[in-house]
Amino acid sequence: MNRKDESSEIVKNYYNETLRGLPTDYISWRWGETEIKRSHYKQTERTILRVCELMKGCKSVLEVGCGPAVWTPYYIDHVTDLTLLDISEEMLSRAQDRLKAYDRVTYRCGDFAKIESLPRGQYDAILSVRAFEYMENKPHIIEKCFSLLRPGGRLYIITKNREWCDLKRELRSREMNLSSTHPVGEVIQNNVVSWRDILSWFTQAGFVQTEANPVILGSYYPPLNYRVGQILCDQVQRMVYSHDMNRWWSYFSESCLISGIKQ
Ligand SMILES: C[S@@+](CC[C@H](N)C(=O)[O-])C[C@H]1O[C@@H](n2cnc3c(N)ncnc32)[C@H](O)[C@@H]1O
Repeated sequence: MNRKDESSEIVKNYYNETLRGLPTDYISWRWGETEIKRSHYKQTERTILRVCELMKGCKSVLEVGCGPAVWTPYYIDHVTDLTLLDISEEMLSRAQDRLKAYDRVTYRCGDFAKIESLPRGQYDAILSVRAFEYMENKPHIIEKCFSLLRPGGRLYIITKNREWCDLKRELRSREMNLSSTHPVGEVIQNNVVSWRDILSWFTQAGFVQTEANPVILGSYYPPLNYRVGQILCDQVQRMVYSHDMNRWWSYFSESCLISGIKQ
């Protein structure tokens, strides 16, 4: 097995096993456990609502790494043809449960990098939320999205940001062998890139009107993890989440939204 196949196997097994062992639902586990996580959920939701506005009129949508369809209900009513893809069977089965009232959804299980049966030039929009950080060969992933979109189609990727202060700190301590991470943590750490690189791959693939915006602003370290720090981050995020990313937001941005249009 080569490194790429190994990474996607690690991710798939991690999510299958984690979901099977969860005493609660995925959203409560991922976003509900602490005050800071709940505020990060709210910040992400703000961006999702903005993306839903931008996606209005997009009838055929592909969501890559949908998980248990956390964000899908926010836009599903505007879409006539929706495909949800995930590498984990457990995730897809939870997505199916959550969306059982909807009949116009196609579920696909597989590694997005490898799956070949998706129709080219068909989608009005592709959305991927917090899955891109697990994927290798990112320029290829973006080119693949380009080929699946119709002309005028839009790509929205929300992903972790390598320039975030906490991640820089983690990477430094890892170099000093101070921390040991779970294999899935290793996959993410190896694959998280800067929003600047993603923007340049969008342009290389042929996307126009490309943009990068901050999504979650904050830190798990003092003073920003104190209640007052969290409130401050949240207030700033409200003001800047639809603005272009810059050096300042980049340092405090746990995640970012990169978007572009296929000419
Ligand atoms: C952190 S979860 C995010 C789920 C959901 N989008 C959300 O925002 O809550 C990452 C998801 O990406 C999926 N994923 C990771 N790598 C993938 C790949 N190569 N192809 C398809 N799905 C993938 C995982 O199985 C998982 O469901």
